Amino acid sequence: MEQKTKGAIFDLDGVVVDTAKYHYLAWDRLAGEMGFRLDSSVNERLKGVSRMDSLEIVLQAGGIGGISQEEKLRLAQRKNGYYQEMIKEISPSELLPGTVEFIKKLKERNYKTALGSASKSGGLILKRLGIISLFDVVVDGNQVSRAKPDPEVFFTAADRMGIPYEDCVVIEDAGAGVRAAHAGGMKCIGVGDRDVLAEADLVVENTAELSQIELIF
Ligand code: BG6
Ligand code: MG
Repeated sequence: MEQKTKGAIFDLDGVVVDTAKYHYLAWDRLAGEMGFRLDSSVNERLKGVSRMDSLEIVLQAGGIGGISQEEKLRLAQRKNGYYQEMIKEISPSELLPGTVEFIKKLKERNYKTALGSASKSGGLILKRLGIISLFDVVVDGNQVSRAKPDPEVFFTAADRMGIPYEDCVVIEDAGAGVRAAHAGGMKCIGVGDRDVLAEADLVVENTAELSQIELIF
């Protein structure tokens, strides 16, 4: 009997490509201009959340309040400018080891694959890296309005793959992403720090370990 088709939804930053550090560096540059620095605990909280939600976290870290919505938009735009500069010439050397192999392995085993990223640059980065064809469906920050931990991005990806939510597994490096997967009734493989990702169904320390996973989902 042929195995039933399942879905695998990949986060981008920190799972497919090593861009989480660029988001952090861009926010830290902005913070520096406002007179403070971001530490690694703030970095962890920035993972997976939308640009405007990230800005709120950064402002809070610097104890900065009373900023108008207009000014917030300008600040977020400035950060994005720094980020765009950093990813302008992104090359396949930034692909995280093992993820592409894992995606290929899943496809051989009758999984449909999707990108489920909060980033408005998600699709663009896949194109620049020449790996967009590995994904049956691409959902990024341009198609959703509610940020992780809301499951909208994963629901959209599953709906477009035509796979029931309970037959989807999400691969995530962010606590907000793990919570979003579970809020959507999906399984989740966490990649990274076991303390941060404790709620995931399975945690691997890094992407290189992904391909060793026996597909129990
Ligand atoms: C997520 C990143 O994938 O995308 C966050 O983990 C980032 O750090 C978010 O803030 C939004 O990205 P962008 O490119 O739309 O500002
Ligand atoms: Mg991520």
